[in-house]
Amino acid sequence: MRSILVMNAKGGSGKTTISINLASYYALQGREVALVDYDPQYCALDWLESRPEDRPKITGVEGLQKGARVPRGTEVVILDAPAATHGRPVTELLSRAQTCIIPVIPSAIDLNAAWRFIDEITDLGRVLNRKVRVATVANRIRENSPGHFEIEEFLESVKLPGGRALPFIACLRNSINYSHAADRGLGIWEIAPSKTTHDVEMWQPLIDWLGSRSSRPAA
Ligand SMILES: Nc1ncnc2c1ncn2[C@@H]1O[C@H](COP(=O)(O)OP(=O)(O)OP(=O)(O)O)[C@@H](O)[C@H]1O
Ligand SMILES: [Mg+2]
Repeated sequence: MRSILVMNAKGGSGKTTISINLASYYALQGREVALVDYDPQYCALDWLESRPEDRPKITGVEGLQKGARVPRGTEVVILDAPAATHGRPVTELLSRAQTCIIPVIPSAIDLNAAWRFIDEITDLGRVLNRKVRVATVANRIRENSPGHFEIEEFLESVKLPGGRALPFIACLRNSINYSHAADRGLGIWEIAPSKTTHDVEMWQPLIDWLGSRSSRPAA
């Protein structure tokens, strides 16, 4: 089973947006998808509630429920972490995933918070032993703005403790398409393609990386 965690302790960095869009992407590919929401506010599950019945099915799971499990036959599981996750819950969530995506927003506050969070997680045994592959994604960028260049420079420079670069995979732009789709229980792949061509292009490096061996631990 493919397992992808979206986590950053900083609130509002785009964890749920990326989680629901990944769930929508894999469901459209015909995969059996489970979306596990660890946020007590259950935003991802609210999105799923509003998903039209005729859209490819995604199974929602309340991650905080004792004994929560994904259904048998699940092929892809997306784990949406809550804000302010530090310490033991970080280790626990990492132990459930092959891949961890850290979304980061281009603001000074977010970059500082991302720096601290990355520092916390890249020191953990599972990450150091490459049992979980971690990467960053810039989110809500305004293309070719100073903030865009600043976040690229920052995320490209992040190193793991051994000196290896922490992969920086994609830049997703700030776009109303995300809320337009989410309001209807959809991902950006499921609304008018004329509006989303560029967003879809920006997702491609992330989709490609998630499909590659380098985003998964060695068997
Ligand atoms: N690329 C984007 N373009 C435009 N709006 C975005 C984008 N990504 C996220 N948003 C908006 O930013 C807000 C916060 O995003 P989201 O809920 O995904 O963050 P989060 O990290 O899950 O937040 P929390 O820490 O509270 O769980 C939402 O209103 C969402 O629609
Ligand atoms: Mg969220």
